[in-house]
Amino acid sequence: MTTLETIQTRRTIKAFKPDPIPENELNTWLEAASYAPNHRMNEPWELLFIGPETRAALNHKTDFGGAPVLIGVVSKPAASVVEREENIMAVSCYIQNFMLAAHEAGAGVFWSSLGGTARGHEVLGIPGEQDVIAVLAVGYPQEIPAAKERTPITDKISYLP
Ligand SMILES: Cc1cc2nc3c(=O)[nH]c(=O)nc-3n(C[C@H](O)[C@H](O)[C@H](O)COP(=O)(O)O)c2cc1C
Repeated sequence: MTTLETIQTRRTIKAFKPDPIPENELNTWLEAASYAPNHRMNEPWELLFIGPETRAALNHKTDFGGAPVLIGVVSKPAASVVEREENIMAVSCYIQNFMLAAHEAGAGVFWSSLGGTARGHEVLGIPGEQDVIAVLAVGYPQEIPAAKERTPITDKISYLP
């Protein structure tokens, strides 16, 4: 796949096969994602591998589509509002890289914001002032939904003098 194809064909996956992901493959995608842009090279992403007890406590309505792997992605604590916002931006870049790497290899990801709720923080053991950016459900897709149409980018462009 070209980069353009990878970007355009990646979809949020809501139904997964139970097949496990080889650990070395998963690590390759997680490692590659670290090449995301991040200010002052602070690499603000932290990963929580979510085990069965924590998963059950999250009580997701579809149990994350049966994904074999769940990863909480947390943004590092920051000393200022600007740093906190930049950390969230960098972690989002990290997640997109990870999703594209997984997709290119035939896997799929569901980005759930469940971890960002007060209960999500409590279950994951993350203090309220720290940001939980995502719970990522990862596995091989059972179903790949059709792409939702996007607004033409020309509708989003303004020209400044
Ligand atoms: C910050 C963020 C939070 C999201 N949280 C959820 C969520 O909690 N539940 C959900 O079903 N999808 C969630 N999504 C996925 C979006 O619904 C999905 O990306 C969007 O519908 C476009 O579909 P696509 O990813 O297949 O192109 C989230 C995406 C982002 C970027």
